[in-house]
Amino acid sequence: MNMKYVIVLVITITAITEGAEYTVGDDMGWMIPPSPDYYASWAAKYYFVENDTLVFNFEEGVHDITVLTKEDFNTCNTTNPLFQTPDPGTVTDLSSDTIYFTCSFAGHCAKGQKVAVYFASAPLPPSPGPSPSESAAADQSPASRPFKFVSEKMGTNRKVSVTMA
Ligand SMILES: *[C@@H]1O[C@H](CO)[C@@H](O)[C@H](O)[C@H]1NC(C)=O
Ligand SMILES: *[C@@H]1O[C@H](CO)[C@@H](O)[C@H](O)[C@H]1NC(C)=O
Repeated sequence: MNMKYVIVLVITITAITEGAEYTVGDDMGWMIPPSPDYYASWAAKYYFVENDTLVFNFEEGVHDITVLTKEDFNTCNTTNPLFQTPDPGTVTDLSSDTIYFTCSFAGHCAKGQKVAVYFASAPLPPSPGPSPSESAAADQSPASRPFKFVSEKMGTNRKVSVTMA
């Protein structure tokens, strides 16, 4: 009798959707890249969907994680970040959107330490066409961009909901 319930429970747990995990910059991590388009090329290699997690590996005190609006991202204006943390850690996207990441340390954004990551709402890639980068996604993005930041250092778990200016 009890066995039945145990089996049902196990199936329910495995059915919970968990996203994939990607390390930004792969082995290189989050730093001033060797070429300005390095992170755009990195992002283009993958197809991100909501609930996926980005791992930001970097040396504390030398870089940070700064999330900007598209406009501020394009001009590398880090004076008014949507979100910012000095801690290495993970960002889990909780809704389909484009998140614009950079580092606020002087000159780092201009040297290419920036990446716009589009998270699709469905796990299957769309039919052949332009890569799902900023263009299409950003224009129809909702006002709120919820994501979760987990610091590697403390294991602190901050659910972040940033709102477009
Ligand atoms: C950067 O953005 C802020 C508002 O977010 C604005 O006041 C400032 O003028 C901008 N700086 C530049 C250089 O565009
Ligand atoms: C992401 O997680 C939410 C909540 O668990 C779920 O409703 C949604 O379907 C998931 N999205 C994808 C693309 O798996």
